[in-house]
Amino acid sequence: MGRYVNFQDELKQRTEMTEAVIRKYLPKEEGFAKTMAEAMNYSMCAGGKRLRPLLLMETCRMFGGEQALAEPFMAAMEMIHTHSLIHDDLPAIDNDDYRRGRLTTHKVYGEAMGVLSGVALLNYAYETMFRAFETAPDHYGVREAVRIMAHKTGLYGMLGGQGVDVENDGKPMDQDMLDYIYRHKTSALIEASMMTGAVLAGADKEQVAVIEKAAGNIGLAFQIQDDILDVTSTSEMLGKPVHSDEKNHKVTYVTLFGIQEASRQVAGLSEEAVALLESLNQKNEFLMELVRYLVSRRK
Ligand code: IPE
Ligand code: IPE
Ligand code: MG
Ligand code: MG
Ligand code: MG
Repeated sequence: MGRYVNFQDELKQRTEMTEAVIRKYLPKEEGFAKTMAEAMNYSMCAGGKRLRPLLLMETCRMFGGEQALAEPFMAAMEMIHTHSLIHDDLPAIDNDDYRRGRLTTHKVYGEAMGVLSGVALLNYAYETMFRAFETAPDHYGVREAVRIMAHKTGLYGMLGGQGVDVENDGKPMDQDMLDYIYRHKTSALIEASMMTGAVLAGADKEQVAVIEKAAGNIGLAFQIQDDILDVTSTSEMLGKPVHSDEKNHKVTYVTLFGIQEASRQVAGLSEEAVALLESLNQKNEFLMELVRYLVSRRK
């Protein structure tokens, strides 16, 4: 730690910038569908670390890309992620009442609106991404970015992981299946974020492959740390309930390996990710420090 001077200040400043980008792209709350737009914005505006759009922007910066092109993708990524949280909290999935320090969307707007506004947010992400074609109609990176985002969100990405996760609630599980779940439900959107940043900046296939691998490890470490915080933190700190995994009879890294070994894995996976980033000629010191910082994140 501390290799990057004023990391915390810099993180705060860059997160605020990300926040401003996200807000520019939110739907207007007007007309007959006003309540639905409100429900979509309710969770989008509740805060959150904004980690995925931040990773997208920093990876784009790493390869010398322009922020203007990345902006609709940053907002779209946070919409996809927030959709995944709204649905993850539904009674049929994890049945949680708090998220980002507020009552969950379905608690405030009802279950039907929770389902619909979640899906509407996912769709709005694509509407938002397509806006990048307005400024760059023939850009290879923009086409490739949309393809990556779609692929990493669906059956072969986040949603596939969520499916295997809920299907196995309460059942015994080995590490192979657990890793499949984590590498999909959580790593996939982190891979999409960083790969999108890279392709928008014109990174080549080999570079994107290294970024995908680093992001996969960052995602796995992130989910293991989420498991640890679920048993060691407080709802005030997290803004969401603790012991949600126990309630849902989940096998996690903590139940399989214990807290100490799980923490060791978080550190090891993050070190591997930093080493992969370091292996590239393009450097972003802030991004590497962010990956190191996530090991000891408290929320
Ligand atoms: C929560 O993601 C879901 C997981 C993949 C563990 P975050 O911890 O990034 O949640 P926010 O966006 O900060 O609320
Ligand atoms: C969910 O994992 C990952 C998603 C794709 C939403 P969790 O169910 O552990 O996430 P939290 O703890 O509710 O944020
Ligand atoms: Mg879940
Ligand atoms: Mg959950
Ligand atoms: Mg969790």
